[in-house]
Amino acid sequence: MLLPSTIAVDGPAGSGKSAVSFAVAKRIGYLFVDTGAFYRAVTLLALEENIDVHNAEAVTTLARRAQLDMTPDLAADGRQYTLLADGRDITLDIHAPQVDANVSAVAANPGVRAALLDAQRSIAARGNVIMAGRDIATVVLPDADIKIYIDASLDQRAERRYQQRLKNGEPADLDEIREGLRKRDETDSQRDVAPLLRTPDAVYLDTSDLTLEQAIDSFYQTLKR
Ligand code: DC
Repeated sequence: MLLPSTIAVDGPAGSGKSAVSFAVAKRIGYLFVDTGAFYRAVTLLALEENIDVHNAEAVTTLARRAQLDMTPDLAADGRQYTLLADGRDITLDIHAPQVDANVSAVAANPGVRAALLDAQRSIAARGNVIMAGRDIATVVLPDADIKIYIDASLDQRAERRYQQRLKNGEPADLDEIREGLRKRDETDSQRDVAPLLRTPDAVYLDTSDLTLEQAIDSFYQTLKR
């Protein structure tokens, strides 16, 4: 059976889009590209270099200069890909709470988005790819073979993040996580450039009441239609 070659996935933070996209990509032998990782990488580098994330010009320069490379290499730590910045493995560092708290400001910077766009499009041009983010259907791959919008209620998304943190042995406060997600959704959906949008041509997949396995299966069935 012929599956769609370019698969665009969008949705809010914690909706399960990365976990589901990763699992389906593995099942069908596609490359999974988590575009949020690129925005997180620029945020991490800015924090490391003491660059103010609200200084649009300085962060844009950083995004243009950074040599970011995403490879499908896995390790025993549960990663879905390996992300290198100038050859350094930053895959785990980009999920630090400090990056969570600052990444929306970086992602709202048009200069940063422009700097990362070409790289994302050239990866997708190779085909057989599931690319996940916020603006994949609207900006990065408007001509994708299929567009899927993955959603889940705020409470469910907060609960999942909370459980994930506990599992990793990290400190976690459910109310704080929920408030962090709510704020990030608000910024990501209301920003001027490439806001998170559910387009009419996207298949809608609500994972609130689904287990991970059920969500993976539902995604996969969508591709076969
Ligand atoms: O999916 P994530 O939580 O790792 O994304 C991190 C941030 O990057 C999030 O605040 C939204 C932003 N982002 C974006 O603006 N565009 C994308 N294509 C992917 C992520």
